[in-house]
Amino acid sequence: MSEVLSESPIYPPKENVKPISQISSLDEYKNLYNFSINHPEEFWAEQAKRLTWFHPWENVLDDDFSEADVAWFSGGKLNVSHNCIDRHLKDKAEKIALIWETDEPGEAKTYTYSQLKHEVCRIANVLKASGVKKGDCVCLYMPMMPELVFSMLACARIGAIHSVVFAGFSAESLRDRIIDCGCKVIVTANESKRGGRCYPLKNIVDKAIQGLTLVEKVFVAKRTLTEIEMQPGRDLWLHEEVQKERRSCPAEWMSSEDPLFILYTSGSTGKPKGLMHTQAGYLLYASMTFEYVFNYHPKDIYFCAADIGWITGHTYLVYGPLSVGATTVLFESTPLYPDPGRYWEVIEKHKVNIFYTSPTAIRAVARFGKDYPAKYDLSSLRVLGSVGEPINPEAWKWFYETIGRGECTLVDTWWQTETGGIMITPLPGVTDMKPGSATLPFFGVNPCLVDDNGLELTENNTNGNLCIKKPWPGMARSIYGDHQRYVETYFTQYPGLYFTGDGCKRDEDGFYWISGRIDDVINVSGHRLGTAEIESSLTSNPLVAEAAVIGIPHQIKGMGICAFIVPSVEASSFSVDEISGTIKQQLRNDIGAFALPDQLQIVKGLPKTRSGKIMRRILRQIAIGEHEDLGNLSTLAEPNVVDDLIKQLKTR
Ligand code: WT7
Repeated sequence: MSEVLSESPIYPPKENVKPISQISSLDEYKNLYNFSINHPEEFWAEQAKRLTWFHPWENVLDDDFSEADVAWFSGGKLNVSHNCIDRHLKDKAEKIALIWETDEPGEAKTYTYSQLKHEVCRIANVLKASGVKKGDCVCLYMPMMPELVFSMLACARIGAIHSVVFAGFSAESLRDRIIDCGCKVIVTANESKRGGRCYPLKNIVDKAIQGLTLVEKVFVAKRTLTEIEMQPGRDLWLHEEVQKERRSCPAEWMSSEDPLFILYTSGSTGKPKGLMHTQAGYLLYASMTFEYVFNYHPKDIYFCAADIGWITGHTYLVYGPLSVGATTVLFESTPLYPDPGRYWEVIEKHKVNIFYTSPTAIRAVARFGKDYPAKYDLSSLRVLGSVGEPINPEAWKWFYETIGRGECTLVDTWWQTETGGIMITPLPGVTDMKPGSATLPFFGVNPCLVDDNGLELTENNTNGNLCIKKPWPGMARSIYGDHQRYVETYFTQYPGLYFTGDGCKRDEDGFYWISGRIDDVINVSGHRLGTAEIESSLTSNPLVAEAAVIGIPHQIKGMGICAFIVPSVEASSFSVDEISGTIKQQLRNDIGAFALPDQLQIVKGLPKTRSGKIMRRILRQIAIGEHEDLGNLSTLAEPNVVDDLIKQLKTR
């Protein structure tokens, strides 16, 4: 079944990071891992020294895991913004905290830790002056600009809860999120810039809050020179307001379990879930995983290409790096603007040592070949990271060889919005790398596989539903305003366990291979097939740039396979028949005849969210001809792709 994935070669840990690894060997990892599982309280009590506490905690962990009732470090008081800024000022005041790489390649703007403090404090004071208090929720609907980072930390400083809404969401989605968490204050920008285009953020906010008496103030950062309408009494320019404020603001004493932020994510139902993360456990987990997984060292320049609108941006662009006093790159543009060499240009320019991105982004640039990366000096890179979806071995190898020159550690990190931080991952210099496998659990993470009846599968070489057995500090504590839904979504399917929603295989070495969401698993004639498995075979063919596989109802087999592929540049000299013939042969060779698609659609593009996830729901509806009502398309990166697909399939 999983030949495609498990036949991959093993890449031993890189020698160059061994002397500087946080963990020196696999044995040391295993010892510490076992200790973290058997003595979680001792383990996390020791780790908690990473944070600066205003008042010491009393209990490491109080939990009733099956009721999703978990508290870490209760009794403790601290402030996340203090931990990310003030405590670094003693010896790192002039160190660069943030490098802002703007959409148009040009001079990057930098902020030292001491400047960061001033910017954050002034916004904190603006928020306070507008009536924001501890426990209030502030909505941040902003481009990838420094004011977004400042605003998050400003909220944390005064104890307000931030709800960052990805700037690609429509007015309707934004409105739902504003109402759901009751935000009286919004911070936005006049426009955002991405890929050479401007998007009217403030207009979208205006539409979103039309007739909503709830919203009292809208602060507008000035990203472009475009004039916009300001509603007197409600709308204020952020740059004018900060001028009036002091550059210092006391950091509120927060309890460990006070909420830090809400972040919405889609579930199987239409209503988005506002996952709620809290202070101490989240920050500790972000901080420790950041340092260990990326082998972070104080002189490193770190570049996470994710958008702050998603959890990766929260944990590994902002909180993780800043909590350890790192230099973090904030990238406003896209991998293809002004050309597919943009990432590599940024890496050369800032001498980036650690680069974290998604398989989708890798495939998007890989289709343009090796010429772009070849133009740049990428020798500063030491650790590469991948996140968000299973990485197909083809993309893994391209990233490893073409970008990492075969000399970098590549960490395939599995985690979720709900987990707060990385859960399953290789550690540089420690873990063997197997392309397509997220490998082994992080400290304190106790994964297990269960069958559909909830029975734990303890053997290796098994497939099952991925669950987590014990609480970890970074876990979300609730769905904002609906704890019952939190319990039902994650803790009832397999009582006593947190259910991730992912299918997973554990191989003969105990390595984990995430096959994707359970709903992306297709059962064809009783053969379970991960869409990731089929896709990884498809994309390993040089004629295929991107692939998406979905299950479609099939009269005889129960479910059939529908594969959408985007041909690569190399495929241009082949006919459609030649391409599909080659692809079918590839699937036959890799997996078996039962994996041959019932429908193979060769298309120009795939519908994706702005974070790069393929929207299978849309493909499924188009494939079965139900494209009259495609529902909410506001998260699509390029809405035209859908129309093209429908037209293309109709004409066949
Ligand atoms: C889902 C979570 C975690 C930050 C970005 C996405 C999939 C994530 C991997 C990986 C295979 C992965 C899972 C997971 N996923 N990382 N390394 N290998 N699958 O966060 O939007 O909450 O999505 O993304 O299916 O459940 P998210």
